[in-house]
Amino acid sequence: MSSNTKNYVRVAQLTDVQAAGYLVVHTQGQAIALFSEGDKIYAIDNRCPHMGFPLDRGTVKNCILTCHWHHARFDLNSGGTFDGWADDVRSFPVQLQAGEVWVDLTPPLDPLAHQRQRLQDGLEQSISLVIAKSVIALLSGKVKATEPFRIGLDFGVRYRQDGWGAGLTIHTCMMNLLPYLDVTDQPRALYQGLSAVARDCAGAPPRFTLQPLPNATPEFETLLGWFRQFIEVRDAEGAERCLVSALAAGANPTKIAQMLFAAATDHRYIDIGHALDFTNKALEALDATDWQDAALVLTSLVRGYASAERMEESNAWRYPIDLVAILETAFEALPEAIEAGREQRGSWLGREQLVPVLLGEDVQAIADSLLAALSSGCTEVELASTVAYAAALRLAHFQTNNDFRDWDTAHHSFTFANAVHQGLRRVTSTELLRGVFDAAVTVYLNRFLNVPPARLPEADQTVTEPEELLQQLPGLLDRQQQVNKAGKLVAQYLYSGGNP
Ligand code: FES
Repeated sequence: MSSNTKNYVRVAQLTDVQAAGYLVVHTQGQAIALFSEGDKIYAIDNRCPHMGFPLDRGTVKNCILTCHWHHARFDLNSGGTFDGWADDVRSFPVQLQAGEVWVDLTPPLDPLAHQRQRLQDGLEQSISLVIAKSVIALLSGKVKATEPFRIGLDFGVRYRQDGWGAGLTIHTCMMNLLPYLDVTDQPRALYQGLSAVARDCAGAPPRFTLQPLPNATPEFETLLGWFRQFIEVRDAEGAERCLVSALAAGANPTKIAQMLFAAATDHRYIDIGHALDFTNKALEALDATDWQDAALVLTSLVRGYASAERMEESNAWRYPIDLVAILETAFEALPEAIEAGREQRGSWLGREQLVPVLLGEDVQAIADSLLAALSSGCTEVELASTVAYAAALRLAHFQTNNDFRDWDTAHHSFTFANAVHQGLRRVTSTELLRGVFDAAVTVYLNRFLNVPPARLPEADQTVTEPEELLQQLPGLLDRQQQVNKAGKLVAQYLYSGGNP
């Protein structure tokens, strides 16, 4: 080999390495640890891939190098680790020539392929550090954020028998947030979502999907009817086969969304709103991934529909007032109310009058007012938006001395109302419109969580540079019992003209 051999670089005298046992050399910005073992010389990156400890300070025994910080072990020859949380360390081919050590610095052929595999490893073993490092490396390598998102989505829907859960919901929320984040914060958001998916799937059995019905597929309307009927009797398997058959027959995203929203609202506020919230998030996840593997993703919802608690079975929805009966009567009047308002749609101005009713104590008046709004030309989306706003006000007026579980109650109501709103923006559906009424009933049921109502924060004074206020926010969020101060700061920011 000559000194101008393309990828090999002379790094040391063989006798120097042999005399010392190991040697660290620096070349082309790379710190390389050389180890003399038997009649061979091994070269590896001197930075431990786990957390950066210098590997020349490790111990070699029987050709296994042990890092002394967290005791990760590496095959000295290949760099492969025996401790997956640490990652393989890069090893360099070595040639000995005329008493000199030469090391091949040819870059790895496809470092991103390795990072994709590491992300998969991190998800499988639920190791947040591995997930974080792979996401950072992938985004630094100009991989689009949708790719790690898809890897997490695919993993989450395959490896959790119970199907879609909180982890995939967080994962999709984080994906939705990306356009609003600084580019340096985007890996953090993806990391949070991916880690939530990994935690949800840790120790869970995998999920297997069904095949579509063979031969001629029935009409979509038939499949839709069967789907709802099977959910009604809690038959997840039958319902899943209808869903995959509809997808295989080419039902478009609008029809599929209508199918899912109908089943998720055939009973009242099922699974305290989670089923509908998860449906909305699964559809958003598919929007982000061009509806690839839709059957795999959407079938993860079916078990949730079939097994969900139905509020018809709950005491609070039956006594002392039979809320379900009030809602069922209202649902019968829906087609007539929509028809009555058809000519005036888009001209409704009753939001300010409706909100106090929604926050009031008369549930019959709430149902009647919702119907009256539709009759007056309020659109489904406007009605859903108004109820979501009322649910948000319940949160804003929530007293911090309530029990923590009460907070869950109030935020379930809001996330459900928001999911109904987003769903109606996606598809027009009289079935889903029932969800607006369900959400309004949850706002009614939560009225005691605003007694007395927490005061909405106001800004004492405005400032000329609202952006500077935001620098105080992380410090407040990092400390307990700072809700009111944080709220006041945000109010001051907004009243000063800060960008929401
Ligand atoms: S830094 Fe080497 S094992 Fe942790």
